[in-house]
This record gives sequence, structure tokens and C-alpha cells, in this order.
Amino acid sequence: MVGKEPVIRKMEIGDLENVHAIESASFPNTSWTLEVFLRELSVNEFAHYFVLEAAGRIVGYCGMWLVVDQSQITTIAIAREARGNGYGERLLVHAKAYAGQSADILSLEVSVDNTAAMNLYEKEGFNYGGVRKNYYGPGKDAHVMWVKLND
Ligand SMILES: CC(C)(COP(=O)(O)OP(=O)(O)OC[C@H]1O[C@@H](n2cnc3c(N)ncnc32)[C@H](O)[C@@H]1OP(=O)(O)O)[C@@H](O)C(=O)NCCC(=O)NCCS
Repeated sequence: MVGKEPVIRKMEIGDLENVHAIESASFPNTSWTLEVFLRELSVNEFAHYFVLEAAGRIVGYCGMWLVVDQSQITTIAIAREARGNGYGERLLVHAKAYAGQSADILSLEVSVDNTAAMNLYEKEGFNYGGVRKNYYGPGKDAHVMWVKLND
């Protein structure tokens, strides 16, 4: 990967096998099926999904729902072996800029024990907005986090 700038582009249906492999490894208990991704790309008019390629290989992705002035990150993950290289942050910066073209607020849920993700969101200016009890299942709470765009 050395010497090549990563590229962020729109996710395509042909990417889904690679995306789903990262998804399954990243969220073993709650991963989306291929069908869910397919529906997001082909049916959901509010959905916007991106992949990050490094050295021509998909190593991460993120997605959001964008409804006029409100936007919400639905998923973000980086392949385990590619973590810690700034790719998650690049995707989040991209998502903020994309959403900021029409939305005022970008929000998300994150498991209360997901320190890596919370650090990333804090670094990108997200605030804590409250807790959703049992969001990921019994006893598995989520923080709601949000950032004001175009500040
Ligand atoms: C969360 C995730 C997307 C971060 O991606 P990444 O590419 O590894 O993160 P980056 O290299 O861009 O790191 C950016 C910042 O995130 C935080 N961070 C990333 N990994 C971290 C870790 N292991 N421990 C603590 N903080 C971490 C740091 O603040 C870091 O900034 P720094 O390098 O200046 O310290 C990645 O760990 C992942 O895919 N996790 C599994 C899926 C997941 O939990 N998604 C979020 C669901 S809400």
C-alpha cells in the first residue's frame, strides 16, 4: 500500500462481496446480509454508500441515510488488517463533507464499549447525545453521537 493515495468512491453492486467480507468480520453478531446491502444500493433512495480503496483493493466502507437536512451514518468499517492507517477517519471526513452539502446534522449510534469508534467520532467533532438502551440487543446499549455540519 506504500506510496499510493487511497481513493474513496461510490459503492457499486460489484463491490458487495468484498464489502460483505469486511462487514462479517467486523460485526460478527450483528452483520448485515448481502441482501440488506443490495437493497440499500438499489432501492433506498436516501442511502449513500462509499468504499475506500488502497492499492486497488477495497479496505473499508461507510454509508449514510440522507433525508434533506438530517443525515445518519448507518455503517462504517475497515478491514482488520488495514486498521490504524487513518482510513476510517478519511471515510468519516468524506461522509461529513458529503452530508454537509444538504444536511445540518450528522448522527450515529455506537456501542458503549466500542472505544476505537468513539475515539474516532470524538476526534471528528461528534458530541454525545444520550444512550439508547438495548439498541444492539438485551444489555447492549448504544451512545447516540452527533456533529453539526458546516460550522
Ligand atoms: C472504528 C474503525 C472504523 C476505525 O478505523 P481505523 O481506520 O482503524 O481508524 P483510523 O486509523 O482512521 O483512526 C482514527 C482515530 O480513531 C481512533 N482509533 C482508531 N483505532 C483505535 C483503537 N484501536 N483504539 C483507540 N482509538 C482508536 C483514534 O482516535 C484515531 O486517531 P489517532 O490515530 O490520531 O489516535 C475500525 O476500528 C473498525 O472498522 N472497527 C470495527 C467496525 C466498527 O466498530 N465500526 C463502527 C461502528 S459504530
